[in-house]
Order: sequence, then structure tokens, then C-alpha cells
Amino acid sequence: MSYRVDFNVVSQQENLSRLAVTLHNLSDDTITIKRFNFIFDRFITPSSVKEGDFSQVGSYCQYTPHSPLLQANTSMYFEFDVVTFPLRYLTDGLKDASIDIKESNETLPVTLTPFVLLEPITHTPSIDDVNEECIALIPKPLKQTETQGYLELGRTFNLISSHPQADNALNWLQTEALQLLGLSLNRVPSDANPSVDFLLNPVLESECYKITITELGCRVEANDRAGFHNASATLLQLFTIRSNGECRLPLLTIQDQPRFNYRGFMLDCARHFHSLESVKRLINQLAHYKINTFHWHLTDDEAWRIEIKALPQLTDIGAWRGPTLPIAPQFSHAAQTYGGYYTQEEIKDVIHYAQQRGITVIPEIDIPGHCRAAIRSLPEMLVDGNDFSQYRSVQSYTDNVLSPALAGTYEFLDIVLTEIAELFPAKWVHIGADEVPKGVWTDSPACQQMMAEQGYQSPLELQGHLLRYAEQKLKNLGKRMVGWEEAQHGNKVSKDTVIYSWLSEQAAIDCAKQGFDVILQPAQYTYLDMAQSECTNEPGVDWANAISLEHAYHYQPLASIDERDPIHKRVQGIQAAIWCEIVPNQERLDYMLFPRITALAEVMWSSNQQRNWSNYLARLKGHLPRLEQQNIAYRPPWAH
Ligand code: ACM
Repeated sequence: MSYRVDFNVVSQQENLSRLAVTLHNLSDDTITIKRFNFIFDRFITPSSVKEGDFSQVGSYCQYTPHSPLLQANTSMYFEFDVVTFPLRYLTDGLKDASIDIKESNETLPVTLTPFVLLEPITHTPSIDDVNEECIALIPKPLKQTETQGYLELGRTFNLISSHPQADNALNWLQTEALQLLGLSLNRVPSDANPSVDFLLNPVLESECYKITITELGCRVEANDRAGFHNASATLLQLFTIRSNGECRLPLLTIQDQPRFNYRGFMLDCARHFHSLESVKRLINQLAHYKINTFHWHLTDDEAWRIEIKALPQLTDIGAWRGPTLPIAPQFSHAAQTYGGYYTQEEIKDVIHYAQQRGITVIPEIDIPGHCRAAIRSLPEMLVDGNDFSQYRSVQSYTDNVLSPALAGTYEFLDIVLTEIAELFPAKWVHIGADEVPKGVWTDSPACQQMMAEQGYQSPLELQGHLLRYAEQKLKNLGKRMVGWEEAQHGNKVSKDTVIYSWLSEQAAIDCAKQGFDVILQPAQYTYLDMAQSECTNEPGVDWANAISLEHAYHYQPLASIDERDPIHKRVQGIQAAIWCEIVPNQERLDYMLFPRITALAEVMWSSNQQRNWSNYLARLKGHLPRLEQQNIAYRPPWAH
């Protein structure tokens, strides 16, 4: 590699870091630097960058030195300030870099020297070793009674049901048993083999199930599709393959029901693109832990990932980042074109795949903030040329918000929401609504006129106006709008909108008190892009806090609310999430999700009385071989 960059912390205080970049020319030639490009996801104080011109769009930074000549085997050095909290992790450093030089027309890659922090933390807290539990069920069922012994099922056995409600679950069980355990199961029963019988029990509530395993056979009872799916997930964790290849089940009875009806997981596919295969892999894993909702974050500032047939520009332009493209590189791939999107046929395929596993797919189209990819794709429709408002989003964009005063905005919403509503059978559509920056719309005559006409006092009410429009539109399309906690700022959406709290649990409690249905997704426990310890080597961020396995496990939803408080009825469930700025590949995704997602699945499913940290660890230890069978690159809980 001909060029290398060092990144160092010069000094660091609580809210001010001085950082230094050194670019080494290791080639044999003198070069003339047109631009040194680097990816860094904190906002750099522009006036702190000296001896060169500097610009930043999101995480993409460009520096043009006033003295552009760089001789062979010499270096260029510059410093800058950031006024955010200290850099603590290696993933806080430069994420990638490239240079444009006069002598070449290409953007050239630059190697990064591993980043050295001022006070690295090398100690990783360990968790006590435990004896593994043989009946390693996660999440823990409500009631489980074991007796000594096993039901011996041999190398093949029958999966029997005469009820169509059980069909999907049995198909999935059959597929997974083959995939994971090498078991080839019969759906057309053969008398020569033992049987697992799926029976309809009309007395059971939705999602509930019973499993009874005796020496004579295994009986599974449920009253709906979801119940049969949940039972199948349990069976998959109970099947044990002996060294002779034969399968057996422990003798027990289980009676199970979930604590929360909505058990969700959100994947951000905008910051990095996850292949169809990776999305399905994750959905399949969610099914193993009885997580029943997949929230698909499909659009953001950095990319638009879903085909909209009437607006092909959204994916022709908005799905791709690159040094010469309308959307610059972000988070990785400084020198290359990077991206991807899902066609509507692929989306249908994912929805079907999820349905086969008892999982509902909720799409998220994030508006009115986090819209830069859409705006860059459709400037004629979405840019208010007379809007000179100055704002900067948390992620350092100055042009990422839809205008409530443009006709094009409503046309865009109509087209997109109509196609989304047609494509996704889920009742709920998530419209984001988070992180609209302060200062937006204040210097747009059209927005100001709209505020005067409508009698609005605050730009927040303009956001409310836009969201109210989306809510009505979705209602007309037969859908219910759901959004992040900021959706009810501006006081315009109706109580039909479901609020997902993310900054804290308190926001959900406050909304529930006002009469909103809510989903709890507090970043402090459920954001799996948070690093798993304070150790410097740990990938992740920690703006909410580090989330160790133990910390995730100990999330006690609504711990401060009295059991009899009616707001419990407003809490539809819990969701975990991963934002993917620091998740460029499958290995990192696995590492961030596993095993923490199993801890959170237990938070979502199991009653408080059933939850116990050391018992969970014993079950987790017994469960780890299942992760290995699936080649999941999990973070070893006992490695350190
Ligand atoms: C969010 O994390 N901005 C919902």
C-alpha cells in the first residue's frame, strides 16, 4: 500500500478532544493532493482545521491542504477538535480514508494504522463460570416440570398434525431439524416410527402452548399459528442428537405464555447494506427465540434501500454511495462505490419467509428527518430552493429534512406510502419521526407562511402537520402509523399512533399516561450497537452506556410502575435494535447480536418470576453449541 494514515489523540477532556491525522506517502513518487478524504463520525469543529480547506458531510470529511505537494517518504500532518465526549473505543477512530491526487483520476485507498487511544482500557470484566444446563431453553418457559428419562425418537420420527394452523410451524420445524440437526422428519406418518403430535387446544390463549413428553410420545398443544410456532422453537432447543445420531427428548411438561405480545427486533439496513441472505438468516434466528416482529429500517440519510416503482430514482441514486456519487461514502468504503437495495419481489420473499416463521415484518420509512438519501435522489420534488435555514443533524447533515411546505413532499409521501401499504401485509407502518434538528424550516418563506396560515407557533407543529398527513394517509390505506417518541412532539398525531420510546423508558411511560400505545426500546438496554464492555478493543458505541450481557439481561421493563397501574395495558411490548454504522459485515453483526439478543428475548418473553441471571447463564452455556451449529460468530461469554 502506497499511502498510510495515523490517527492520534493529542489531548482529551470531557467535552473537547484534540485529534491529529498524519498522512504518509510511502510511494516512490511525489504526489499533489487534491483531497484527503477520511471517514469519522463525530462533528469536527471546522475552524479548528488549519492550513487547509475542510468540509464534512455526515461522516465523510474532506481536507485539501494549502501546501498540496507531498514528497515520497514524507508526511502531511493536521489537527482538529471535536467537542463531544471522549473517544473510548477503537471503532471511534477513523473508519476509512482515501486520497484524490492530481496525478491520477482515481480515488486511491489509504491504509489505516491501528488507532491508539490516550488511556486505553484493556481489562474486560469476566462473568463467573457456571455448570451447563442440559435443558437449555431460552427464553425460559413459564412452567416446566421434568422427570427422569428420555423419549427416544431414533434417527427419524413423525411430525403429525391435522390442523392447518400448525402447518407453517411444522414446515419450519422440519426445515430447521434437517438444517441444524441433520434430522429427516416424516410428515406422512409411518407407524414404524415414534411421533410428535401437534393438537389444537381451543382452551389455550393466543401464542400459548403446552408440550408433554412421556416415554410414549410427545404432544404439542396450541390454539393458533403463533402458539404452534412458539412450541416449535422450544422443541428445536429440546431435541438432542446423541453420538450415535439418534434423537431424543427429555421427559417433561411445559406450559408457556409470553409476558409481552409484541417482541421485536429492528435492523438498520441503511447505514450498511445487509444482503437478502443475511436478513433472512436474522429473521430465522429471531424465530428461534420467539421474537415475533421484524422492524426493517429501510431508509435513512445514508441510503434508500427499497424499490419504489413510481420513483426509481430513490434506488438508482439513493441506494449507492461513492466518491463521485450524489451520496458520498459514509462509515466505510471511502474509495469505492458501495450499496444495494431490495426489489419489491425480494421484499415479498422476505415477508413470506418471515410469515413462515410466525414473524410480522414492519417497514420503516423515516420522515421528515433522516431523509437525505431521498432528497439527494429527488431534488426537483423535495428541495425547497428558498429555504436557507441553518441546521445540523446529530449525524452532521445540513440537508436531510423534508419540507412540510412543498407540494412535492406530499406527492412523495402519497406514492411511497401507497406502495409500502400494498407491499407489506403488516397492519403497522413505522414512519420514523426521530431527530429532526433544531433550526429546520425557520428560514424558509414557504414554511413561515404555512405557520402563519395554520396559526402554528413552533416549527415542531410543522412536523406534527406532516406526520398528521402521513397518519391520515396510512389510515386511508388501512394501516396504523407507528413512530419514534418524537412523533408526538408537535402534538398533532392522534392517539392511534403507536409510540416507540428509544431515548429512555420514561418517554414511553409519559406517552402511555397520555393514552398512547407504546413499545419500549430504551437505548440503555436494547441498542445492540452499544459496546459490550468498556474495553477499548470492544467494537461499538456507548452514548447510552456500554451494554454487557449481564446489563442487557437485567433490564426490568416498567420496574418503577405499580403492577396494578393501568398504563401496563398500553405497553404492547419490547423491541431490541441494531443501528449499523459500525456493522459492515456479517461477522460484526453476529458479534454484536449474540448472545445479547438471547438475553433480551428472555426480557421480552419470560415472566419476572422465571428470570434469574445465573440460571440463564447455565442455559446459555448449554445453548452455545446451537449457535456454533449455525456458524454464528457470537461474542464468547466466558472467553476472558
Ligand atoms: C433513534 O435511535 N434515533 C430512533
